[in-house]
Amino acid sequence: MTLVLCPGSFDPVTAGHLDLVTRAAALFDEVVVAVAENPAKAGLFTLEERVALLRAAVDHGDGVARAVSARVRVEALPTGLLADHAARLGAVAVVKGVRTAADVEHETPMALMNRHLRGVDTVLLAADPRWAHVSSSLVKEVAGLGGDVRGLVPDVVLAALGERLGERMAGRREPAAG
Ligand code: PNS
Repeated sequence: MTLVLCPGSFDPVTAGHLDLVTRAAALFDEVVVAVAENPAKAGLFTLEERVALLRAAVDHGDGVARAVSARVRVEALPTGLLADHAARLGAVAVVKGVRTAADVEHETPMALMNRHLRGVDTVLLAADPRWAHVSSSLVKEVAGLGGDVRGLVPDVVLAALGERLGERMAGRREPAAG
């Protein structure tokens, strides 16, 4: 049985992430999607919300083929090193998607460090060109400025984005106290 770990912030999960998870599940028996807390980034969604959105997308077959969703598990990445968690799970590899040369440059030192730390290899899958322009940060920026991100994120995320950004706009319109 081959198990792989797909880690990331997923703030929020995009169609590109789901394509990566589907392709990982076609190559390996089990995929654990590990959602990381990122102390360096102020997220739009909390860790619990990001996990719930990913689970909903996977369980509803919303971007992940139904045939593979039973072999995909979504969890919060425990505090500590990814390499240690991968070793604990007996993962054969970490799987990441790369859209551009910049992504490869960003991922390579992490891949080498994880290998150095625990001998964990990383498989870099070239992103499907349909999603080459899609990132969580661009989705948030475009949606926040009123742009249409339909099709770039699962429906459950589209709804959550509308709600969260609506709340933020409403917060900004609140009259100052006093
Ligand atoms: O989606 P992101 O923000 O690019 O994901 C980055 C992530 C979570 C994969 C990376 O920060 C990570 O592996 N964090 C776990 C802590 C760790 O092991 N850090 C050392 C990486 S070599």
